Amino acid sequence: MERLSNKDNPLSGSDPDELTWDKFIYPRGAVSQKTISAYVEALEIGAQFPPIKIQRVFNYTDANGNKITIATIILDGVHRWSAFKEMGIKEIAAVEWKDTSLDYEENKIALLLESAQSNISHGDRLSTNDKKRVARDIALSDPECSVRETALAEKLGVSQQSVNLWISDIRARQRTSRDSTIIRLGRLGWTQDKISDKVGLSRNRVCEIVGNTNIGNIDTLLAQGHDMEYIAAHYQMDLALTWAIRLHGKTDQEKFKELGWGLRTWDQWNFNECDERFGDDWPGRIPAQLIAHTLFYFTKPNDLVLDPMAGGGVVPDTCLLFERKCQAFDLAAQDKQGKRPEIEYHHWDPKKETWPVTKKPDLIFFDPPYYTKKKKEYEQKANEDTPSISSYTKKDYKQFFKDFFTLAYKNAKPTTTLAFLNADWRDFESTPAAEEKPDKAITIFDYHSLLSETGWKTIHRIECPLSSERLTGNQVQKMQDKRILGTIGRTLLIAKKNI
Ligand SMILES: C[S@@+](CC[C@H](N)C(=O)[O-])C[C@H]1O[C@@H](n2cnc3c(N)ncnc32)[C@H](O)[C@@H]1O
Repeated sequence: MERLSNKDNPLSGSDPDELTWDKFIYPRGAVSQKTISAYVEALEIGAQFPPIKIQRVFNYTDANGNKITIATIILDGVHRWSAFKEMGIKEIAAVEWKDTSLDYEENKIALLLESAQSNISHGDRLSTNDKKRVARDIALSDPECSVRETALAEKLGVSQQSVNLWISDIRARQRTSRDSTIIRLGRLGWTQDKISDKVGLSRNRVCEIVGNTNIGNIDTLLAQGHDMEYIAAHYQMDLALTWAIRLHGKTDQEKFKELGWGLRTWDQWNFNECDERFGDDWPGRIPAQLIAHTLFYFTKPNDLVLDPMAGGGVVPDTCLLFERKCQAFDLAAQDKQGKRPEIEYHHWDPKKETWPVTKKPDLIFFDPPYYTKKKKEYEQKANEDTPSISSYTKKDYKQFFKDFFTLAYKNAKPTTTLAFLNADWRDFESTPAAEEKPDKAITIFDYHSLLSETGWKTIHRIECPLSSERLTGNQVQKMQDKRILGTIGRTLLIAKKNI
């Protein structure tokens, strides 16, 4: 039973109804009704309780998956809180762990540890199973392995051996996937210092892992009849990296062959499908083959490619395959989930003239939103202060490109190639072709004009049409009846500095 006290002076009073019991942070699987009843009885005879421990947080998602910005969560004292609620008492004494509001997502592990530590010393002490669950939750939320086993053992009041036993399988998986992150970043040209900052390992350790050529013999496993998915899972590597290792040292043309991609000789690049092996499922995802062709014609091995709006990461994946270096950015950087460590967070707002790229690129592969196409999906990944350009007005959207092309020009080498992918955008999808209003469209010619105005010269116009098979026979019939001219064009403009 928790310690009752008549002399504690609460530091603040909180309304129990305003507090959140976060089942992830508060380590007890279930509260004990017996303890709550004892507290209720104690309250009835006027007992005083020590303050519970709470923390204000932001960036919080509630148990139903609703993203609510702020909450006050309980770190210690769920039994006392439940008793106060049961009694209908509108104020409970509480102390706050940190006196500022914390980013929940960033501080999840610290909150879990603080709660666990507060709960091992009193009240209905945590059971061994609860402690094991906390240890595993912490290990799972900490892919960088920043919390050491010794620290965990100390906080949970158990031996280091117990902690090792509980979490060794998670840590082993994480170490292998951490190693493949390091190898991926190394191959994409990240410096060892930058990798070391990213993964929280010493520079020396990073150096050893990057230099480790003993990654396994993929050819032997292939000869034994295993496929690449099996081999990737076997080495606990992602598929793109496994392919990159397999193709290492081959010529670009040999790589096309091994990947099963026909090499296009002319400036019409028709790819019906995205190759599912590369890049993540992402709104507006483009085929790796399109990028591979751009790399083949406009870069050489070891050149640096910049992808300012990298989305699902198909450009870095293709750079890995073709041994190009790559720096990638997006406002929806996915590294929080540890999925795409190579995509760095950056919100492009060229008015601010920030250019986060560390070296001048040889190729800029720019695949921005096609104005409002997929607007809803991109808005979900952005926020009000750092919006996706698909939420801009038409005027601001065009101005964005003018500013971006200018900034890119300033920060490019004389030989840098700019590859810009986009499609005609029309605000008259159900309008007969003859009635379309010219001021409502943004077409490839507009982008071409903006490139010219900012010092770039378009040297190729490569057609990479989208598939028309998305429409049913019925829809096509309706379009024909109304004389609507559909758009499936998508164009890659290749530009060089006009000097
Ligand atoms: C067409 S998608 C890129 C798709 C990517 N090439 C792929 O195949 O997965 C465009 C991306 O631009 C990003 N974006 C839009 N506005 C941005 C901005 N101002 N700064 C950074 N990223 C932005 C969106 O989050 C989205 O991921």
